[in-house]
Amino acid sequence: MIGTVHQIVEYSANHLEEANGLINILAGCISPQPALVTEGPIFIGVDVGTANVVSVAVDRDGVPLAGEITRARVVKEGIIVNYFEAVHIVQSHIESLSRRLGRKPDIGASAIPPGTEMGNIKVTRNILEAAGLEVKKIVDEPTAASLVLGFRDGVVVDVGGGTTGISILENGKVIYTGDEPTGGFQFDLVIAGHYKTSIEEAEMMKCDPECQRMLFPIVRPVIEKIATIIRRHLAGYQAKGLYFVGGTCSFPGFIRLIEQELGIPTYLPNMPMMVTPLGIALSCREG
Ligand SMILES: Nc1ncnc2c1ncn2[C@@H]1O[C@H](COP(=O)(O)OP(=O)(O)OP(=O)(O)O)[C@@H](O)[C@H]1O
Ligand SMILES: [Mg+2]
Repeated sequence: MIGTVHQIVEYSANHLEEANGLINILAGCISPQPALVTEGPIFIGVDVGTANVVSVAVDRDGVPLAGEITRARVVKEGIIVNYFEAVHIVQSHIESLSRRLGRKPDIGASAIPPGTEMGNIKVTRNILEAAGLEVKKIVDEPTAASLVLGFRDGVVVDVGGGTTGISILENGKVIYTGDEPTGGFQFDLVIAGHYKTSIEEAEMMKCDPECQRMLFPIVRPVIEKIATIIRRHLAGYQAKGLYFVGGTCSFPGFIRLIEQELGIPTYLPNMPMMVTPLGIALSCREG
């Protein structure tokens, strides 16, 4: 039985288990799988990232109802560089969610990487409004992730398509953040370079479970670089544990190598790519 998000945050001893419960529900209702239905209000979280645009619908208890994912190239280094394409994708997500949920969702939220507030908040808000959503809030990505993972004090490491973001949260607030341009795209670059193939082909190989073991030695230097980036940003900070989100963390062996390199316990939820989008949807329900 899944509790409300408040129950998860306040009463759960093993929050990653609870977070995985929510994520597993979401995994079962990502398009083209059927959506779940609710009588009550529907809250939408939209994550416009470097590699993907992801939209997630939750009910008033924070239970996932439906998800949409579209690969896109509308963001570079945390900044929206193709506004019209972003609007088009978010509109198509809202249309699809409305069809699948049986009615149009009303309230939405989105997120931006911390440190990119200048201009980015307004542009992100405009994208959701252009898709017909009333925008409840624009949160920062690590705070959104922490709502799913169920902690107020900890470090979120987000290894997405374009960047690695390191954020320290204390008492539910981001007190430090750093973002560097190394992510899944750099995996693609080294694979494409090694096999003398295109980025698209390299991306397909990287996500193919049949190829991943063979690719590990090729991408290893990129993982080591990510470990170095994390170490540098956490210098002088006694991190008790690192919570990993973002699609690149799914690469088999990634987390183990990072943990070996850093010597800090790491926590990896199921479907790390969906954590921030789900957290954005959850943030929408808050006052
Ligand atoms: N199973 C997998 N193995 C390895 N990489 C994966 C896997 N699934 C997704 N990825 C990679 O994860 C990246 C996308 O992750 P995510 O959706 O978190 O990024 P994003 O939010 O769009 O980017 P950013 O946060 O940098 O703006 C892509 O580079 C994709 O290739
Ligand atoms: Mg992201």
